Amino acid sequence: MSPEDEKESPEKEFAGNTTLHGLNRILIAPSNYFRVMWVLTILASYSGFTYMLSSMIMDYFSYDTITDTKLKFTDALPFPAVTICNMNKFDSQKLKLVEWSYLSPYLMGAQYDIPTLLSMGFSPDETINSTIGNITLQDFVFQNGFDVNSDRMAMCFWKAEACTYLNFTHTYTFFGNCYTFNSDKSNTLWQTMEGWGNGLMVFVDVRESEYTENYFTGGNSEIGLKLLVHDQDEPPMMDTQGIALSPGSHAFISVQRTVYENHVPPWGVCEDRQLEYYDTYTLPACYQECRSKHIVANCSCVPFFLPGKAPPCNPGNISTCVRAVLGRVVSGELKCDCPVPCHLVKYSTSVSYAGWPNINTRNYITKTYGHTKDYMAENGVVFSVFYEQLSYQKIRELKAMDGGQLASNIGGMMGLFIGASLLTLLEVWEYLWQRVLGFLGKYRRPRVLQVHAAPHDKTEGMYNGAFNK
Ligand SMILES: *[C@@H]1O[C@H](CO)[C@@H](O)[C@H](O)[C@H]1NC(C)=O
Ligand SMILES: *[C@@H]1O[C@H](CO)[C@@H](O)[C@H](O)[C@H]1NC(C)=O
Ligand SMILES: *[C@@H]1O[C@H](CO)[C@@H](O)[C@H](O)[C@H]1NC(C)=O
Ligand SMILES: *[C@@H]1O[C@H](CO)[C@@H](O)[C@H](O)[C@H]1NC(C)=O
Ligand SMILES: *[C@@H]1O[C@H](CO)[C@@H](O)[C@H](O)[C@H]1NC(C)=O
Repeated sequence: MSPEDEKESPEKEFAGNTTLHGLNRILIAPSNYFRVMWVLTILASYSGFTYMLSSMIMDYFSYDTITDTKLKFTDALPFPAVTICNMNKFDSQKLKLVEWSYLSPYLMGAQYDIPTLLSMGFSPDETINSTIGNITLQDFVFQNGFDVNSDRMAMCFWKAEACTYLNFTHTYTFFGNCYTFNSDKSNTLWQTMEGWGNGLMVFVDVRESEYTENYFTGGNSEIGLKLLVHDQDEPPMMDTQGIALSPGSHAFISVQRTVYENHVPPWGVCEDRQLEYYDTYTLPACYQECRSKHIVANCSCVPFFLPGKAPPCNPGNISTCVRAVLGRVVSGELKCDCPVPCHLVKYSTSVSYAGWPNINTRNYITKTYGHTKDYMAENGVVFSVFYEQLSYQKIRELKAMDGGQLASNIGGMMGLFIGASLLTLLEVWEYLWQRVLGFLGKYRRPRVLQVHAAPHDKTEGMYNGAFNK
């Protein structure tokens, strides 16, 4: 090989001109000692780069997440929905004989007809000869269940402004009729000052004497209200969530709002499913549908407090079938497949109690409303729901490494170890392309230009020399 040939070698040209650090140093090294040093250092750099690159790519594809927790202070916070239920589904005062007979499997554990009820000590009334009309249990509950009115809810305050039972929307739950304050998602109330005078305060008369529940026939044994603070998108699941409030006390319910942002797979496990009966995917909504699905499958009817398309359950169905299936769903024996939503708002509560009413208030109520001295202590539930401070917690699941970070890490490692950039890749590609062309040319050219090979080589060499100058 002549020196001219050597100069033309694409490797040499590439090594001499590339912006990759080091390669040209091998060429221009002043002695073999330095040449060897350069070669070793370059090999070490390339292995370092390969190692870092593979470990970074492995990190990226392990889809790790980090959790970012922030406490944010604001001037105003959206107020949650507050749902209340009486721990009594039906008021005894509203029930006539025929209705007792209709509800008997539900309230008394077995079906009793009117003569049997009479023999059990019920007093006869005008419905003694009638039968229950064509009515669903849902309509029946609405008409005869717990209702709020100006008597039952004598006091309601939102901030300093009075509200009434009309500000509560009706909803069906396991406890029958329940009522939700601030249920309208599109027109949410906001709390703008912290502390308990700036939220909701309500008085409810639970009317203990009208309770029809009996623990020994499948009902509740408690007196009081069930209360749940929840997001407007979530249907209230009063049997498994919420706090219980007893009469004779004022409950101070301080609320803390937490917003979760979860990641979709492969980083996290969240998923927003399409639900059949609810617009927004939330865990309680998914559980409600799941309960409904299990009950419809086993009992062939849907209870009034769950969504569903099957025919409505009657009181007999509820006591013989629905309660048993519901128990098996709640205990986890029947499964629900409900993934965590990607965005969710949770309200946690901390409750403290004060006795209610004090002696002067009691005397005033006794005189003004004609109740007995102990009536309020046995029937009156007062509660306040409020943000103690105008702050909320935001918990976000973040990618430990996203595509941009991966690129900049690779860029950093390329710079640190081999002095390369994206543009250098083009250089390498150009070199490889020329090699491929040259390789192909070697096989083609000799056949076509065999005769003139020598002169051509010379001119080519001269031409290249001139061009390179
Ligand atoms: C119910 O029927 C009985 C006998 O059929 C009759 O004597 C009684 O007056 C009826 N009661 C009412 C309230 O209609
Ligand atoms: C009850 O009412 C439903 C519709 O409201 C009707 O389809 C059904 O035939 C009625 N049943 C009786 C026994 O009247
Ligand atoms: C309660 O309802 C009344 C009448 O609809 C309305 O004017 C008032 O703003 C409501 N109050 C709250 C706190 O929603
Ligand atoms: C539901 O009640 C109806 C009428 O009483 C009855 O025909 C049906 O068998 C009941 N279904 C179950 C699952 O108990
Ligand atoms: C529900 O149905 C399954 C079979 O479909 C049955 O084995 C199970 O006992 C039923 N459970 C209840 C509570 O009825």
